[in-house]
Amino acid sequence: MAAYEHKARVDPSEDLALLRTLGLNDRGIVVDLGAGSGSFALAAAPLCRRVVAVDVSPAMLVTLRTEAAARGLGNVEGVRGGFLTYAHQGDPADVVYSRHALHHLPDFWKALALARAASILRPGGVLRLRDLVYACEPRDIERVIEPWLAAGVARPEDGWTRQELETHVREEYSPFSWALEAMLEHAGFQIQQAEYDTSRIYAAYTCVKR
Ligand SMILES: C[S@@+](CC[C@H](N)C(=O)[O-])C[C@H]1O[C@@H](n2cnc3c(N)ncnc32)[C@H](O)[C@@H]1O
Repeated sequence: MAAYEHKARVDPSEDLALLRTLGLNDRGIVVDLGAGSGSFALAAAPLCRRVVAVDVSPAMLVTLRTEAAARGLGNVEGVRGGFLTYAHQGDPADVVYSRHALHHLPDFWKALALARAASILRPGGVLRLRDLVYACEPRDIERVIEPWLAAGVARPEDGWTRQELETHVREEYSPFSWALEAMLEHAGFQIQQAEYDTSRIYAAYTCVKR
């Protein structure tokens, strides 16, 4: 897990700054779906009232809870659950966040997961979604994927190797951007902003629940 953290180099500050401009404040409720060991959830906690960090992995949740306790964060709840099983309790969320986790689900299940994410939010609430998404047409996929694979590092301790990236393409369910965007709309979201990085592999969406 420490190896993942090192390789992933997660910095939640940009997303938190964005969410603050969209109204996240000390009365806010945030749900992080597929929170992992909690990089985002732990950073969000000082800025809001309640953070629920949801993950299927007990090991991730142990790390998250340990770190929350070490930082004296009493408003972070680690909940074992998934996109398809988490049952939100209490006031509806102001923000649902998810980073690099939705691709674990095949598209049929993604559509259901996004509808469930919408049901957690209050009307006008924000979904900030980051994931590996192919922002291209199918005919262009090799031109997009090949440079990304070629940029894989040689040593796993330095980042993602070509072999690891190939495994992602082969075994995980990153969608085309246009398919994911249709799912977001069908789930009841209005996409306010869709950002694709220059590789056309990493995307970030800001969506508002209609
Ligand atoms: C690549 S990690 C990302 C973790 C964290 N969001 C981050 O950005 O560092 C993917 C996470 O998704 C979790 N996950 C896998 N399947 C899931 C599901 N069906 N529902 C919720 N989380 C899931 C994994 O346990 C893992 O913690």
